[in-house]
Amino acid sequence: MSVGIDDISFYTSNFYLDLKSLADVHNIDEEKFYLGIGQEKMGIVAADEDVVTMAANAALPLLESIEKDSISTLMFATETGIDQSKAAGVYVHRLLGLSNRCRVVELKQACYSATAAIQMACALVARDPEKKVLVVASDIARYDLNSSGEATQGCGAAAILISANPRLLEIHPESGHYTEDVMDFWRPNYRSTALVDGKYSTKIYLKSLKQAWQHYQEVSGAEFEQMDYFCYHLPFTRMAEKSQSQLARYTKSECSAEQLSAKIDPSLHYNRIIGNSYTASMYIGLVSLLDNAEEDLSGKRVAFFSYGSGCVAEFYTGTVMPGYQQFLHREQHRQLLDQRTELSYPEYLELYNFEYPTDGDEHHFPEQTKGQFRLEGINQHKRIYSVRG
Ligand code: CAA
Repeated sequence: MSVGIDDISFYTSNFYLDLKSLADVHNIDEEKFYLGIGQEKMGIVAADEDVVTMAANAALPLLESIEKDSISTLMFATETGIDQSKAAGVYVHRLLGLSNRCRVVELKQACYSATAAIQMACALVARDPEKKVLVVASDIARYDLNSSGEATQGCGAAAILISANPRLLEIHPESGHYTEDVMDFWRPNYRSTALVDGKYSTKIYLKSLKQAWQHYQEVSGAEFEQMDYFCYHLPFTRMAEKSQSQLARYTKSECSAEQLSAKIDPSLHYNRIIGNSYTASMYIGLVSLLDNAEEDLSGKRVAFFSYGSGCVAEFYTGTVMPGYQQFLHREQHRQLLDQRTELSYPEYLELYNFEYPTDGDEHHFPEQTKGQFRLEGINQHKRIYSVRG
């Protein structure tokens, strides 16, 4: 029996900042962002949007073609937790109208936890193939203003349905892991922006890639040349290029530079204009690959490198299923991205500086999101979510 991804979709905010605006304000060449880090735009969350509304919006299209009661478990992966105790997925469970018999849990390990969720989901499905597991990864990447990380902000959510006999991608059982206690990127509970040692984080990312690959190769015996496409964790798209050339060098690949690029390029389109979305980034990259690859991907082997600072990394692969094209949400993704509104720098600052009140009084937030679900307000420290009419 094969187990893997039966359906996948993503969501991002309807606002973005073009990095040219940021470059102009900081008086630097925009090509540093467009070429140097490979990012053009970054998604900025509306005041009435958070990881819960983004996750529910991402998951909605997946429920159109299945029985909701077949979902036994909802796993919510995030770095942007909204509560120290309650799993954000419990709100999503209600907004989506899932069964009370569906269990919910939240997972955290920086940008990596969606991959842990997917592996656990595969194990649950292997145990009970009649059931499906919904994995949602949702994050808002925020760094300090004027920091080196500012241009790598973004926001987004990916919803991934794991089932037996999947329609999109079979996940192979072998995977390679790497864990090391390092401080490259972290966010103490009292901070709303991440702390990061930028250059060090890219070094640790590449070291983890090598280590996870080595482990993966030991358990699978697979070779670099057998991988048709790669989806790397995408803090910024240039990171995928650095990763691809490092892995090619390490494995003594004979692929030309063009061949190496061709294996990653289709996975980069969406992230280049959404920005970092931590746990969701690599899976938005997968959606980008499936939606945008020019050739038929049926039977192609896709390699995944998932990285979460701190750090935990994993390398695994999957095979695209024949006929996958008919189950994609390509048009919906295109509309979502095409209908976004560009923010001026002052408008970006206004949204960046918006803070949720912490006084326990009743507060209502301006209606800004165009998504189906919104964060209407906060009352007595409780978040109030609603469905837009
Ligand atoms: N035209 C073209 N390219 C230019 C340019 C110009 N005018 N000016 C500069 N560049 C190039 C530079 O040469 C450099 O290229 P190389 O990497 O090939 O050397 C690139 O643009 C970036 O320039 P800098 O190194 O000067 O950039 P920086 O130091 O200001 O910022 C960064 C880079 C440290 C990655 C920063 O964006 C950052 O801190 N980001 C947040 C942390 C991060 O994303 N880390 C990634 C690994 S950790 C992870 O993956 C987890 C996660 O999601 C956070």
